[in-house]
Amino acid sequence: MRKRPAPEFRPLADLKTVRQSEQSIELKSSFQKVRLSVLADGLFRLQITAQKKFSTRPSWAVSKENWAPAATTIRVGANGVSLSTGSAAFRLSTGDGAWNLSDATGATHFDAAPNTMGFAGKEGRVELNLIEAESLFGLGETTGTFNKRGLIREFWNTDILGHAPAIHPGMRSLYVSIPFAISLREGRAAGIFWDNPGRQIWDLGQTQLDRWKMCAATGEIDLYFFVGPGVETVVSRFTQLTGRTPMPPRWALGYQQCRYSYETQKRVAEIADDFRKRKIPCDAIYLDIHHMDGYRVFTFGKTFPKPRALIRKLTGQGFKVITIVDPGVKDDRKFGVLNRGIARDAFVKEPNGKKDYAGKVWPGKARFPDFLSARVRDWWGDEQNKLCKLGIAGFWNDMNEPANFALPTKTLPPKCVHRLDPGKVTHDEIHNVYGMEMARACRDGILTHQPETRPFVITRAGYAGVQRYALVWTGDNSSVWEHLSDAVQMFLNLSASGVPFCGGDIGGFIDNTTPELFLRWLQFATFTPFYRNHSNLGTIDQEPWVFGQNVESVARKYIELRYQLLPYLYGLFEQAHREGTPIMRPLFWHFQDDPVAMATSDQFLLGENLLVAPILRQGSTARCVYLPRGEWFDFWSGQKFSGGQHVIALAPLETIPIFVRAGSIVPMTAVQQFVGEKTADVVNLHCWPGAGELDWYEDDGISQAFAAGAFSRRQIKSRWSEKGGALRLGRVSGNRPSDVKKWRIILRGVARKYSVRANGKVVSGRFDAATQVGSFEVLNAPGVVEIQLRRS
Ligand code: GLC
Repeated sequence: MRKRPAPEFRPLADLKTVRQSEQSIELKSSFQKVRLSVLADGLFRLQITAQKKFSTRPSWAVSKENWAPAATTIRVGANGVSLSTGSAAFRLSTGDGAWNLSDATGATHFDAAPNTMGFAGKEGRVELNLIEAESLFGLGETTGTFNKRGLIREFWNTDILGHAPAIHPGMRSLYVSIPFAISLREGRAAGIFWDNPGRQIWDLGQTQLDRWKMCAATGEIDLYFFVGPGVETVVSRFTQLTGRTPMPPRWALGYQQCRYSYETQKRVAEIADDFRKRKIPCDAIYLDIHHMDGYRVFTFGKTFPKPRALIRKLTGQGFKVITIVDPGVKDDRKFGVLNRGIARDAFVKEPNGKKDYAGKVWPGKARFPDFLSARVRDWWGDEQNKLCKLGIAGFWNDMNEPANFALPTKTLPPKCVHRLDPGKVTHDEIHNVYGMEMARACRDGILTHQPETRPFVITRAGYAGVQRYALVWTGDNSSVWEHLSDAVQMFLNLSASGVPFCGGDIGGFIDNTTPELFLRWLQFATFTPFYRNHSNLGTIDQEPWVFGQNVESVARKYIELRYQLLPYLYGLFEQAHREGTPIMRPLFWHFQDDPVAMATSDQFLLGENLLVAPILRQGSTARCVYLPRGEWFDFWSGQKFSGGQHVIALAPLETIPIFVRAGSIVPMTAVQQFVGEKTADVVNLHCWPGAGELDWYEDDGISQAFAAGAFSRRQIKSRWSEKGGALRLGRVSGNRPSDVKKWRIILRGVARKYSVRANGKVVSGRFDAATQVGSFEVLNAPGVVEIQLRRS
């Protein structure tokens, strides 16, 4: 076959203004149309099409369409146009298409050379200049380095088994595609998002050191620019645009146990009994694909003869039961789900648009629900509801890239047809949203039938905005040390890409773990948002008790610590829900101007106050930890350190190094075997010397009532040192009475005894010179409580 010549690249050139409004300007050349708009101060959108008109198809990623008009100055000159807001300006040269985005001081965030942006046939191309001192983060789910500069990333959701870089060094795609990046230039942050769910390739300075080249195989150039300078501002804007994660049920923060598969009902019941007998807290048990009848979705097979009884028993023991749900519906004309799907014309079509496409997944020949259409999502929600009625508490959406074993490309043929509401689109144009739309069907389906509940939905595949529907777990990692360390950067970059609720398989999925690797992984995951142990078919057992007594007791200690930390974690989830702030944060989130913090890839912050330094190498019993500026305390020993330096932290097998920022208030509570076993009516407020604040938040943890004000929130402040100081529990807002009866204030790192008064009355306390811990209690009340600490 003769190769067709590559289409000619036509860059933007000789642009003429077509129309102008208060916040946007449209231009055109002989080949292309350009629209440049301001959505908010520091938020710009640049659209370019080679078609006659801009697409009017709504975006799957963008959830906020309407923005309050931001004060914008538009200038049209002989050589270019510019749009400026208070904090930034975008200048486009009309002759050659060069452009520049700068901040209020005139410093450039992004710029493009002449003749670098445009279309080659259907392929949109954008090229940015990179400066030497520029680091790039985000990009959603990626393996490899923390700083993404120098990487080539292909955004094309793919089922990759055992995705450790050590196993797939050249791997460019993963299950989730979030074409969003944060650039840090000498401490100043800005972000880019190319909203296009077709195939995109980003070369972040690999083939040409000073160029960031992006292209998309189909669709428009549709870029959003987010101007900092704070990284928090950039991510907050991005999540304002693409949505924030809903409040999870509180139990979703607990420990969860999975494996591929607990193959019989009896085995599941044994596992549940073991957790309770051994007093290892656990909130959820998963049913992987073996629970189904021949992998038919929404069914139970012979080895699960009495699902209702099983679910009732487990629920009675305080567990939630989660099932896996795969999109491929077995092509079996005796199967009700398939027949009802056919009756509704619910499946993705072959390229000719007539017959349903049939691929191959676990059940063999299978059809793929067309989740891009609302009527299909509604139907799916109804089918799923049968499991909800049985007592299933959440769903694990897997294989939704979608994976297809029938083709070497591992997914649907590019020209398969999806129906939209209204319209049609070929698969290659929307590939990356398929999985997200499945998660949407799942979440919306739960809410349709149980509007008062908080859905629990996990997804493997996703696109920008996936956080609105589901948490993301990072798929099939491997039981290797490299992958444990990779998980750190992976979750940090995913968190900074709008997906705060994320995590990976503890212990590693592929291959057999070792006791030490398991324990180090579990210790790390104790401080990650999603806390689930999972392992592959044919691997050794991986429950916390299988590696001998020592590992079991250390594992218990960490799982218990997770439950003790739940009030702290829950507060972070609420902040993520409200503001889009990651739960797990890279050091640069709070120390953006510190180059060492920016480069640190093997430590992270849980919220603002806990610095976690996981052990990532076999045999390590100590590690180097970077403490950013300020003062820090060793969580375990209370020892004080000055920041701005590296320290050596000892880490025997039972210890993961954790440091607490001076002035922190970390709320902790009693261990429970599952969330809701006990009412957490005594809260320990661990306070370290210095000045700090805690945004205390609680609600019923399970319903949507919080959205109507049924919560209790208060600011807790502290400022104290050796000389004494004060704590203040601010006035309560919200209209749900607090569950807290008593605050136990635990002063850590106390050098001497204090006399304590709360609202003027003397409070007796304890003080232990050996551990440097002081404690006293105050009853909870909705009004302000002023606490004075005086040297006695
Ligand atoms: C996929 C999932 C894995 C699951 C398996 C069987 O590989 O990523 O977590 O256990 O399928 O369902």
